[in-house]
Amino acid sequence: MTVHLSALRAWLLAEHANTVDADRLTAIAGHLRRMVEDGVEGAVVEVGCYRGAMALWMRAVLDELGDTDRPIHVYDSFAGLPAPGDRDSNHLGEGELVSTPADVVATHAAWDKPSPVFHPGWFTDTLPDQLPETIGFGYLDGDFYDSIHVSLTHCVPRLSRCGALIVDDYADTAVNPKAWDGLPGVKRACDDYFGTPSPMEVLVGDGDLAFGLYRRTA
Ligand SMILES: C[S@@+](CC[C@H](N)C(=O)[O-])C[C@H]1O[C@@H](n2cnc3c(N)ncnc32)[C@H](O)[C@@H]1O
Repeated sequence: MTVHLSALRAWLLAEHANTVDADRLTAIAGHLRRMVEDGVEGAVVEVGCYRGAMALWMRAVLDELGDTDRPIHVYDSFAGLPAPGDRDSNHLGEGELVSTPADVVATHAAWDKPSPVFHPGWFTDTLPDQLPETIGFGYLDGDFYDSIHVSLTHCVPRLSRCGALIVDDYADTAVNPKAWDGLPGVKRACDDYFGTPSPMEVLVGDGDLAFGLYRRTA
């Protein structure tokens, strides 16, 4: 089945509005396009996939670009969020956002798309030895300090040349005052991982997008 991205976009915005929005879809599609056009090698990973909405979008965008063989790997506890730590807000709590691999399969099947490669379990258990050797693009969406820190620890060294990571909920309000700042542990994890000066770039959307971009340049 040929998936029309505009139709999929409308469906995702209607059915998965708690995790995707127009700015996120546009930004991710743009970076996947850049990866393909620039010939960047490596798999696509999503660390924190919930019900598979963004994984489906990434599959559909890659297919549209003719990059049908590039695998997408997804990582999730499938038991919801862990407990927030000292550096997190109380916006989300332990056990929220529970999904199952069957939810992700169903999300993809609704659009006749193949499921991603599943890596169920806590990031601390799966990421050390279940990431692909090279990552061309990664979407880090674990919401909390520890989840983002462990994601960076294992994904950054595997980034291929010119590969990129987008970190959701990265809010640098000094640079983008419109950014939603409900999960401050995310930026704190990036700051602690990278130190100063931080290589994170702030992506700005039409709304309250809070996206940070890390690019491996060499
Ligand atoms: C906001 S949701 C992801 C939404 C998804 N990226 C999307 O756009 O459709 C965050 C997910 O991260 C998972 N998660 C957070 N921290 C985790 C950890 N330390 N280990 C495993 N899963 C984790 C949660 O179970 C949850 O499903």
